[in-house]
Amino acid sequence: MSGIISPSILSADYTNLERDVKLVEKAGAEYLHIDVMDGSFVPSISYGPNWVKQLRPETDMILDVHLMVINPEKIVDAFADAGADIIGVHVEATPHIHRALQMIKNKGVKAEVVINPGTPVTAIEPVLDMVDQVLVMTVNPGFGGQKFLPSTIKKIAQLKALKDAMGYQFDIEIDGGVNNETITAAYEAGANVFVAGSYVYDKVDPAAKIATLKALTD
Ligand code: DX5
Ligand code: ZN
Repeated sequence: MSGIISPSILSADYTNLERDVKLVEKAGAEYLHIDVMDGSFVPSISYGPNWVKQLRPETDMILDVHLMVINPEKIVDAFADAGADIIGVHVEATPHIHRALQMIKNKGVKAEVVINPGTPVTAIEPVLDMVDQVLVMTVNPGFGGQKFLPSTIKKIAQLKALKDAMGYQFDIEIDGGVNNETITAAYEAGANVFVAGSYVYDKVDPAAKIATLKALTD
């Protein structure tokens, strides 16, 4: 089975969003990655739960919501009610990561913990038994179009080893700088869900880009 591709809508054309959503869905992307930024945890500001609510009926793709916000426990319920299928919360963004994940699970939504490039895998070890997905950031969060950080490969491998040793079932997602050149090392290290923003949406044949990423992770 090939890797799951989660195109990041952050790099889409906002004046043609419906077109850009349908395009990646038709191309076989299983997830749609939605980057929520609060201007505080990261410098940029993006969209909120009302936007997700409007998007929900427009697509059958799994809505993969990445919260780059301080104290995410304040808004996880709103994103769950809006129709998110997966909600990711950064371990660096709250003193209550366990509570935030519990709140997501209580809503019947898949819970994901996220770590920045500078955060070690050990920081999330205590919650690995309760998550459906772990997101290893392969760039510093906040912007699309950055360069993949090779130092993150070791963390993906570490996480995969821990997953196998403990018999955990979570998916391992990576986000940032993913393209046809960087995806292989991450796939070989154990990642199975791949966010791709600028690589997919740079205007030249997004469907072919998705096919390429799928072929490289098969
Ligand atoms: C970065 C975001 C990413 C971003 C990835 O903060 O979390 O999801 O859209 O974009 P690319 O694939 O261009 O690095
Ligand atoms: Zn993201």
